[in-house]
Order: sequence, then C-alpha cells, then structure tokens
Amino acid sequence: MKTMNPDKLDFATLCVHGSGAPVSPTGAISVPIFQTSTFAFRDLDTAAQEFAGEKPGYIYSRLQNPTTEAFEREVAFLEHAEASAAFASGMAAVAMTLLALARPGDKILSTHTVYGGTHALFEEQLKKFDIEVIYADSPDAAEFAAKMDSRVKAVFIETPANPTLAVLDIAAIAGIAHDWNVPLIVDNTFATPYYQSPLQLGADIVLHSTTKYIGGHGDAIGGVVAGSKTFIDDLRSSGLKELGAIMSPFTAWLMLRGLKTLPVRMDRSSENAMQVAKFLDGHEKVSRVHYPGLQSHPGHDIARRQMRGFSGVLAFELHGGFPAAERMLNAVNLISLAVSLGDCDTLIEHPASMTHSSYSPEERRELGISDGLVRLSVGLEGIDDLLADLQQALDKA
Ligand SMILES: Cc1ncc(COP(=O)(O)O)c(C=O)c1O
Repeated sequence: MKTMNPDKLDFATLCVHGSGAPVSPTGAISVPIFQTSTFAFRDLDTAAQEFAGEKPGYIYSRLQNPTTEAFEREVAFLEHAEASAAFASGMAAVAMTLLALARPGDKILSTHTVYGGTHALFEEQLKKFDIEVIYADSPDAAEFAAKMDSRVKAVFIETPANPTLAVLDIAAIAGIAHDWNVPLIVDNTFATPYYQSPLQLGADIVLHSTTKYIGGHGDAIGGVVAGSKTFIDDLRSSGLKELGAIMSPFTAWLMLRGLKTLPVRMDRSSENAMQVAKFLDGHEKVSRVHYPGLQSHPGHDIARRQMRGFSGVLAFELHGGFPAAERMLNAVNLISLAVSLGDCDTLIEHPASMTHSSYSPEERRELGISDGLVRLSVGLEGIDDLLADLQQALDKA
C-alpha cells in the first residue's frame, strides 16, 4: 500500500494518487465499480456479528458500498476531515446535514445569498419540521454575531455565494459560531478543496454539490459532507441508512474520476474566468462584474486570504436590464444556456428566471439579484472562442 503524506506532496499529486488506500487486490489503477445492492455472508454467525457492529463488513449498499466508500475516503482526505458521507445530490447533502443538527423549535443562522434550492429548503421544507432559518443581513461577520441566540443550533454559509459571488470570512464566522458552541457548516461547492479548506480555517462541517467541479463533466448528480467522525457516523445513520439519500456506486466512480483532474480543470477554468471578467469589466453594455478575483469586488481581500484561487464562476449586470439579458442569453452560440456550474462546458444562466426564481422579486431586489444579472460558469474552452461568443451575444443585447 502506498503511503501519501499530505503535508509533503502537491495537491495535484494527492488528487491523482489519492490517499494511498488499497483500490483492489488486482492492482487496478481505477477503483472498481461494485455494482451490487447486497453482499453475501459466509454464515449466519458472521451476519449477526456484522449487524451488531461487532465485526466490520459490507451488508447492503444503502449502508456501505466499497466504491462509494472509496470516494468518501478521498474527499475526507482532501478536505482534512476525519470522515465523509456521500449523498444522492448536493441538496440531499445540505438537507440531511441540517436535519441531523436541528430539532423542532431550533433555529439555523444563514444568509439569503445561497443557492436558490437551498433557500427554498430553508423557507419551505425546514418550516414543516418547525426549524426556523434566520438570516444575517449582509456577508459581514459582525452581522452574524448580532443575529446569534441560544436557539441557533448551526450556522450555514456558502462562500463564494450563489449567484452574486459574495465572499464570507470563514475564520471570523467560525469564531462567532464557536462562541455559542454551535458548528459552522460551509458549502464549498464554488471553491472546491483545491482552492479553499474551510475546516483548516475553523469550520466544523464542509459540504459540496459534487455535481459541479468535483464531478466536473456535467454527467452526474451528487453531494458529499465531511467533518468529524462522530458527526459523520450520525449523519450516515440518519441521512443514508434511515432517510436513504445515497450516492450510487457508478456515480461515486464518476466522482472519483473527476477528483483526479480537479486541479487541472480548476486552474484552466479560473484563468479563463479572470480573462472573461476583465473583458466584461471594460465592456460598454455591462454595468457591473461580480468576480472575487477583481480588485473591485467587495470580498477580494478576504478571498485572497482564504482562497488559493478565485474559481470559474462570475456574474455580471447588463445596462439594459431584463430585455438586454434576454437578448444576450438567446444569442449565445458556443456557450450553453443552462443551469449548473463547474462543467468543462461554459454555461450561462439568468438567476432571476432560473436558479433564484424561488425568491420573491422584493427579496431579489434586496439581495442584488437584478433582472439584468447574468451568471456565467466559465469552462475549459479556448479563451478566444469564449470571448468571441460573448462579444457577438453582447452586440445583440
Ligand atoms: C452552491 C450550491 N450548493 C448546492 C447545490 C445543490 O446541488 P445539487 O444540484 O447537486 O443538488 C447547488 C446547485 O446548484 C449549488 O450551486
């Protein structure tokens, strides 16, 4: 078995070679896909011991599967966590984490600027369990301190946040959560473990929609949560064993494959995004560009401190509001009008009509999700081709 010292090796090396845990006795380089629902026991006594937790072993793929387990091990390794659990989607990861931490009557503190599906979970599903989500009014850490109270059982943030790329200070917000003895959960989807290590900055739980950069190819939906072994054991028992939101072995294999190329894809996508941000920043049809890599971004200094790269998602506002956005979005040719992000393909979308349409128009106005706001997930294409497509679409805006 290889031994991988994460302190001595480059992150890219760790992504390619993994934690060094054995993949298969055959010597296969790629983790085999254990496409099985159940596992046969040698005899009844072994079965009884495994069910009682007295002996390790595989019982049933809703509880544990070797391929999914390999993916969980690698994510825990890359996120500097004791353990991790893989889920059917990013939304399942968010929902199961919050349901594991809060009981009826409890509160969760978050911000309005999160993925629209997460916001809908806060406002619609968690209310059915009598779990109330309260909101810091701005990304400032001081706002979080002002909103804490003894009923808050967890703090949840997304940084950079969807869709305005607001950057939140993980270390400062972790300090506030810990003053109240509650965990900080960070949705690290936009940054990935390559660019941001929330647990090393003081957060307690980190999660991802692995549908995005970790999978990276727009071909699979998944989620993952990493943290302490105690928390992950509890989450595994509630979210996977009892609520059943598992990742399939084949999806886990696609995610493992995605991890191998994560740094290469992230660097290319970030380089492209920086060039696109600069191009849009000087464009006559564009009134504002939101990208943490630009010095004009309000979160630029925090991003430089807590991230190792600025990632590939940006948003921009068009002078002509909704009509201009509609004309531009209908005119893109190479770029696809599609939700999601972190794919090889560049994807463009209109948050007010698409990912953030569950917010009321007033909420969107307050959060800066204007009708002229367009979100772009910059992919791996040649930069000149991307700029040419954006230019011809902006000409029609
Ligand atoms: C930041 C973030 N978190 C969570 C999710 C939900 O993930 P999924 O679509 O895999 O359920 C998304 C989806 O866009 C997202 O952008």
